[in-house]
Amino acid sequence: MSKPLRIALTKGRLEKDTIGLLEKSGFDCTAVREKGRKLILPIKDINAEVVLAKANDVITYVEHGVCDIGIVGKDTIMEMSGKFFEMVDLGFGRCRFALAVKKGTDFYAGYGVKTIATKYPNITRNYFESKGMDVDIVKIEGSVELAPLLELSNGIVDIVETGTTLKENGLEVIEDIAPISARLIVNTVSMKLRQKEIENLIKIIEENLQSC
Ligand code: PRP
Repeated sequence: MSKPLRIALTKGRLEKDTIGLLEKSGFDCTAVREKGRKLILPIKDINAEVVLAKANDVITYVEHGVCDIGIVGKDTIMEMSGKFFEMVDLGFGRCRFALAVKKGTDFYAGYGVKTIATKYPNITRNYFESKGMDVDIVKIEGSVELAPLLELSNGIVDIVETGTTLKENGLEVIEDIAPISARLIVNTVSMKLRQKEIENLIKIIEENLQSC
């Protein structure tokens, strides 16, 4: 038997839906559900194994070809770019990138250069460049919503899912930037060398997405 197809799954928000989709597609993910501290986990009913990783690492592993397939959010894909095929929009993990400010603030008032806090500096830079606007970007690692409250920034570019975090902290969206959802990506060499296996797997997954 050839070596297992290696699938990198993003830990956290996308994890439950991804495992649910694999199970719905007929693959036994017991080992993934009962993972403990194990990092490489076999899937039954198919010659594949799962690696659970942080979103950025999913892209790195797929790009370097140590994982054949990855499941990762469009947010990470947009931020990191990289060389791989983006094959399927899985439809779950839906949220959006937005520009948000303290409620009632006129973001565009005045002539000074605005400061934006974000976990996504590349997306932020591209967005404001496309508007022809010069901004200072401050990279924050978590709870970006704090930055305008602490007066570190005039606004934030971040993921908005339910909008609860913004609301509870007195912030509001003033512009939508891009929709986000989970994507299935494939290493370019794997796509050539293991095309049949990968296409079969994608076909099964797509059939089960449609019946969601
Ligand atoms: C994301 C994002 C917001 C929050 C939005 O953070 O950065 O803080 O979710 O979700 P909501 O609109 O449903 O309130 P995440 O929970 O991923 O944690 P982090 O800040 O540690 O990255």
